[in-house]
Amino acid sequence: MSFDLVSDIQRLKRDKDVCILAHFYEDGAIQDIADYVGDSFFLAKMGQQVANKNILLAGVVFMAESVKILNPSKTVLVPDMAAGCSLVNGAPFNRYLDWRQQHPDAICVTYINSSAEVKSISDVIITSSNAAEIVDSIPKDRRILFGPDQHLGRWLSKKLNREMILWPGACEVHVLFNAKRLFALIEKHPDAVVIAHPECDESVLQYAHVVGSTSRLLQEVEKNPAKKFIVATETGIFHQMKKLRPDVELIQAPVTDEACACNDCPYMKMNTLQKIKNALETFKPDIKLEESLRLKAHTSLDRMMKITSGEKVTWPESFSV
Ligand code: 13P
Ligand code: SF4
Repeated sequence: MSFDLVSDIQRLKRDKDVCILAHFYEDGAIQDIADYVGDSFFLAKMGQQVANKNILLAGVVFMAESVKILNPSKTVLVPDMAAGCSLVNGAPFNRYLDWRQQHPDAICVTYINSSAEVKSISDVIITSSNAAEIVDSIPKDRRILFGPDQHLGRWLSKKLNREMILWPGACEVHVLFNAKRLFALIEKHPDAVVIAHPECDESVLQYAHVVGSTSRLLQEVEKNPAKKFIVATETGIFHQMKKLRPDVELIQAPVTDEACACNDCPYMKMNTLQKIKNALETFKPDIKLEESLRLKAHTSLDRMMKITSGEKVTWPESFSV
């Protein structure tokens, strides 16, 4: 890591009043220069709490869009506008709208891994760390549409014993974890605690002792006295895990193709220190949203914020555009 690059970034963010928020899947060097590192819910909350006028979000674009939707007066920079997400790509607005219109009486629960347009036609947004609390707050007599991650939806539906109509999307990284190879690994390490993100397929999740968001998995490694963990999520999280528990063995859960580095998210890994420095220097690229779209998307994100802070919310009786 270049020392000059890091000190330039520190100087620029101080001089230009920028707070750097980074996701756990970023490279360790990026996590280390960030003011705050966390899961997608934590990053959305921090966007509202920090006093800085400007935010640089080192993560993927839907995370930066969420911060902008909640804080329109702040400039929200991203290191690379191409840092997308397969769940966003797999839920284009027109198809999601069609699906939504087929079930107008249902409550549409949408994962934060979605575009601003898709958020604008959703009733409430969830992340993997608050999904159970939010779905539980929906009246039991209401039908639920859940998208775009079918695996998170299926896991949630079983956990809460609640039927949901699922959108058929998936995370291209988490679906590659392989159940057969994981089973063989567990047989070799029967003392290991298996932890997995709910974006994994249920064939993988059935072997996990703990299923949860990135922050929940990190908490497990921190608090569980075990000395060995098999981790089924993106590799960036190992950075904080190693810092918190240098004494434990962390084993990556196996993916289908032994030779590939496919448990690296290609979008998260587009960000580099150099791109962060460029964004701080030029104040570009930054998130721009039409105000009418932002306002519509704000309704569903704001419901998430309200429910998670214990406020009562009302639900629309039916959907109309
Ligand atoms: P978390 O909210 O658990 O950090 O997950 C975000 C994500 O993109 C997982 O792939
Ligand atoms: Fe999207 Fe998967 Fe990357 Fe998370 S890990 S940002 S869900 S592609």
